Amino acid sequence: MTACHRNPDLIPCNSLRLDISTIWAKPKPVKEPFARRLGRIPPYLFQELDDLKAKTKGPIIDLGEGSPDQPASARITRAMVRALAKPVNHCYPTYAGKFPAREAVAAWYRRRFNVKLDPGTEVAMLLGSKEGVGHLIWGTCGPGDGVGVCDPNYPIYPNQTRLSGARLVSVPLLEENRFLPDLDHLVRIGDRIKLLCLNYPNNPTAAVADLEFYRQVVRLAQRHGFYVLNDCVYSELYFTRNKPPSILQVPGAKECCIEFHSLSKTFSMAGWRIGMAVGNSRLIQALLRIKQNTDSGPFGAIQDAATYALKHSESLAAKTRDLYRRRQNTFCSEMTRAGWRVPKPEATFYVWARMPEQPGKAKGRRQKTEDYRFVLELLKNCRVVVAPGSGFGKYGKGYIRFALVQNENRLRQAAKRIGRWLMANRE
Ligand SMILES: Cc1ncc(COP(=O)(O)O)c(C=O)c1O
Repeated sequence: MTACHRNPDLIPCNSLRLDISTIWAKPKPVKEPFARRLGRIPPYLFQELDDLKAKTKGPIIDLGEGSPDQPASARITRAMVRALAKPVNHCYPTYAGKFPAREAVAAWYRRRFNVKLDPGTEVAMLLGSKEGVGHLIWGTCGPGDGVGVCDPNYPIYPNQTRLSGARLVSVPLLEENRFLPDLDHLVRIGDRIKLLCLNYPNNPTAAVADLEFYRQVVRLAQRHGFYVLNDCVYSELYFTRNKPPSILQVPGAKECCIEFHSLSKTFSMAGWRIGMAVGNSRLIQALLRIKQNTDSGPFGAIQDAATYALKHSESLAAKTRDLYRRRQNTFCSEMTRAGWRVPKPEATFYVWARMPEQPGKAKGRRQKTEDYRFVLELLKNCRVVVAPGSGFGKYGKGYIRFALVQNENRLRQAAKRIGRWLMANRE
């Protein structure tokens, strides 16, 4: 008997037993290709901005997505070229990442945060932190679980929570609380969540959390039995003497916390897709269980280049900071001169500002919030792309996010155009 006969689901390959009537039968309606769960998430904000840009004719100044405009340092690129010549890098990588890369992460954590990590069990290399955050949520939460998600937020946390089937528990970030979660609110939701997603230094608000805040969060996590994910990809883009801390600096944090980092921002390697997760070994295992069934880890040569970058992090990151410090000085002072006083960020390359007095009148697009309308007006009148605050959540309403990913000349030009338009509409 052939395999086909043993399995009635398989059509016998050596006989065409087709009923002629099936050829003339009315075709079945085509099935909806989108899984029903996709209905739980809104369109992706930055895809919407891309679509908007594609529809716009002529040159624009793009301060929308936080995608670094600079290439990685030539030193990193040379490390990559050397790594490409190694045959081993052309094979499948290991799931958790190359051991020397994980050792470099652990050594960097020791130097930067004075935190000791076991590279064997407490570090995993990722295809960027976005991938890691999404898969961590899938590896830890599902129907019946609650996930605390700050609002406004980087959209991956709420969207992956919804896709995983877990329940989203909103954690408002208010300006009067310096865009940190209210600790009393965390006490109230503590028993209802399995995972709390934090992101400091924060996108989009540029807020920084201090060690005392992290201490309180870890204390609550231990008391209520939830886990904490801290997305720390902007830790090296700071502009004051207070370096943003790691949540893992809190004694006992490794029992309940996982932290994510990225080489995208610090080393301008966004297109390379490389990042890392560190912390609680059980959470790392949960993340890797999903990854083993989804991807095969980052390209070995990219991990070697990342290892080089981390080993030379101090000098390379200092250059990146200088670049964005100059940009924020230029942009913020030019905007102030133009009549819109925007706050200078302590960290990240974002400027998060309340919308100014409304120029122009609403033209009936009631489904769009005011900041969406303002973004469209800026694009039409100034040819500048920015991100609407409400694209990051309902508590982002009324704010605008500028990503300083253009050179100083263009930032100056953008501020001038915006200033002229605001002035013309005030008169
Ligand atoms: C808070 C936050 N986390 C993660 C990412 C994605 O980083 P990566 O390039 O490492 O996936 C971004 C990118 O903008 C971000 O703002």
